[in-house]
Amino acid sequence: MKLDNKVAVVTGAASGLGLATCKALAAAGAKVVGFDLDQQRLDAALDGMVGIAVDVSDEASVKAAIDAVVQRFGAVHVAVNCAGILGPCKTLSKGQLFPTELWNRVLGVNLTGTFNMIRHAALAMSTNTPNDSGERGVIINTASGAAREGQMGQAAYSASKAGVIGMTLPIARDLAEHGIRVVSLAPGLFESGMSAGMPAKVSETIVNGLLFPRRMGLPEEFAALVRHVVENAYLNALTLDIQCGTR
Ligand SMILES: NC(=O)c1ccc[n+]([C@@H]2O[C@H](COP(=O)([O-])OP(=O)(O)OC[C@H]3O[C@@H](n4cnc5c(N)ncnc54)[C@H](O)[C@@H]3O)[C@@H](O)[C@H]2O)c1
Repeated sequence: MKLDNKVAVVTGAASGLGLATCKALAAAGAKVVGFDLDQQRLDAALDGMVGIAVDVSDEASVKAAIDAVVQRFGAVHVAVNCAGILGPCKTLSKGQLFPTELWNRVLGVNLTGTFNMIRHAALAMSTNTPNDSGERGVIINTASGAAREGQMGQAAYSASKAGVIGMTLPIARDLAEHGIRVVSLAPGLFESGMSAGMPAKVSETIVNGLLFPRRMGLPEEFAALVRHVVENAYLNALTLDIQCGTR
């Protein structure tokens, strides 16, 4: 799908991979609307692009935001799910269990939040006039290398990201008849607000284990892949690693 004049919504837009994605899609000619929790952070980050305060874990909030985008811009063609939280905690530590509330919060944002966006974006996309190749929309989710090879303390995070990978194929099957593609991306370690909050020892260990180039990924490198997935109509129903040999 060509991005020129298409409407793209991006979650997690105030920071890191989501913010870089907003910039890359706007540079390719799309009308971009960024979703994130806090309106002030969005306005400061998005530099003139439109931002809407949304909690992706709250279905009503997602529905209201997608409705507002359709009302203002007439359609949704591209939806990119970048909102996510880490919620690190050991399963059992010094007699304390991983709190149920934290487990539910991580799953609620990373997995249910992604599904909330997918469902409401797909509903809006299903009313688009298809382009010459029959496409009505493209949905891109952010999984993680942690889905398969999580670190200590990442039980909930890894489970949520494995869920994103697991639902990619069935959702792509469900939405194929509407001309909507669904692709997930699984990054290794990237420079962002999230990785900045990790203990330096953890990120150094991961970077030291990389092949080449031996550095964290740049948000722009992730965003370039998002753009490619949107533009390449033959990518569907899969998860692409962008991780430089991370273990
Ligand atoms: N940075 C990495 O190394 C890395 C690696 C693998 C996967 N990821 C994934 O990439 C995605 C982007 O993360 P990032 O690295 O840019 O982190 P980040 O912390 O810089 O950005 C995440 C953004 O999501 C927003 N967010 C959190 N909860 C939300 C909610 N309920 N509703 C709406 N927005 C919410 C945050 O406010 C933040 O702006 C996440 O899904 C993350 O799990 C990141």
